[in-house]
Amino acid sequence: MSIWAKKSITQLLAQAEEKEHSLKRTLTATNLTMLGIGGIIGAGIFVLTGQAAAQYAGPAIVLSFIVSAIGCAFAGLCYAEFAAMIPIAGSAYTYSYATIGEFLAWIIGWDLILEYLFGAATVSVGWSGYITSFLRDIGVHIPAALAQAPFAFDHAAGWTATGAIINLPAVLIVAAVTALLVVGIKESANFNNVVVMVKVAVIILFIAFGFSYINSANWTPFIPENTGTFGQFGWSGIIRGAGVIFFAYIGFDAVSTAAQEAVNPQRDMPIGILGSLVVCTILYILVSLVLTGIVSYKELLVPDPIAVGVNAAGEGLFWLRPFIKLGAIAGLSSVILVLLLGQPRIFYSMSIDGLLPPVFSKVHPKFRTPHITTMVTGAVAALLGGLFPIGALGEMVSIGTLLAFTIVCVSILVLRKTQPDIPRPFRTPWVGFVSVAGAAICLMQMAFLPWATWLRLIIWMAIGVVIYFSYGKKHSRISNAH
Ligand code: ALA
Repeated sequence: MSIWAKKSITQLLAQAEEKEHSLKRTLTATNLTMLGIGGIIGAGIFVLTGQAAAQYAGPAIVLSFIVSAIGCAFAGLCYAEFAAMIPIAGSAYTYSYATIGEFLAWIIGWDLILEYLFGAATVSVGWSGYITSFLRDIGVHIPAALAQAPFAFDHAAGWTATGAIINLPAVLIVAAVTALLVVGIKESANFNNVVVMVKVAVIILFIAFGFSYINSANWTPFIPENTGTFGQFGWSGIIRGAGVIFFAYIGFDAVSTAAQEAVNPQRDMPIGILGSLVVCTILYILVSLVLTGIVSYKELLVPDPIAVGVNAAGEGLFWLRPFIKLGAIAGLSSVILVLLLGQPRIFYSMSIDGLLPPVFSKVHPKFRTPHITTMVTGAVAALLGGLFPIGALGEMVSIGTLLAFTIVCVSILVLRKTQPDIPRPFRTPWVGFVSVAGAAICLMQMAFLPWATWLRLIIWMAIGVVIYFSYGKKHSRISNAH
């Protein structure tokens, strides 16, 4: 059968309602927006902002946040149109199955695994760093051999052994979140709501109290002069900074993987996706303005830049320090939750389509969650988080996500031309411009990532192609139906 076989939207919607595979519809517009915020605010703002300001953009990191937000907003609008039109668990994988055909759908699904599975692992390593530091503050010391990756990666030296055994806190947080996700979507959403309120409150406290400590001298010059090397300050630094902090926005798209569990997906998917993106963009711009205003950007090359900012402001803000750490710990937990929620729902959809073995679409008889694929995903994420360093994991996540966004932006335009009459409860405004510009901004950010990351993406995709031709193509439900 053809690798370009497409699934009709009617077929997709009918399959989603098949009894043995049905998921529980309990999520409201507020839950979905909170899921988006839960997935977005995490290691990006709590760790990477400082590093990107110190190394690439200076105070103009604020502009990097705006550039990256524009790309994400365009991709978000395209996601919203798709998610309302095809409210199925598989997100971009399912959208491309309906538009460009099975093989490319498989490719994008395989690519989304990079985003969610590796994303959860990346953030679990960040979580481990914050919890270890918080416990140290209260007198509990976790030995370094049990809180660090046994492998390190350096672009010059390659892979080396660190002498550590395993990053145990990273493994434990992934295990705990996985257990919660098996028990239920509603329980997970409730936990997420509480955590999101904590982390947003901490961020607002930082903005509100940090504001009066701003010293405008720290903003001068706002765009530090380029050092002579491309990407180090100046305008090229702003773009490279945008590529790095792009990680901070990842997560809003994960809302679309919960489409099959939304009470009213046609109306609420766009609200969840775009609402969470707007809230986070505003918070990010304000945090980066305040942070670079209270401390010189040169001092921000640290794992906990916001805590450093609070220290620099002086004794008046010291009370805020433990809250920042707690906010980060809470924030990172919910990011792991949302990403680990997304991944099994992609596997679930692929398995329903026959491209992965049937065991991946089994739904728990009592909890009505895809429990087996949730546990498999959790085990692999725990292993990745326990063994590998944050940098190598994070780079894979960014390139994988940018590729997914590019394909979504292009597909929305293709579908407008090929199937103009499908009911679209939400329509991307100025679709020609938004989809082309969205794809272009994502491709530009990909182009700025290092060659080693590209190579890993190519290897990962090659593995996916081998699996497709040796399993998926033969078992594909749509091909076998002909
Ligand atoms: N946006 C998420 C974070 O920054 C992935 O942690």
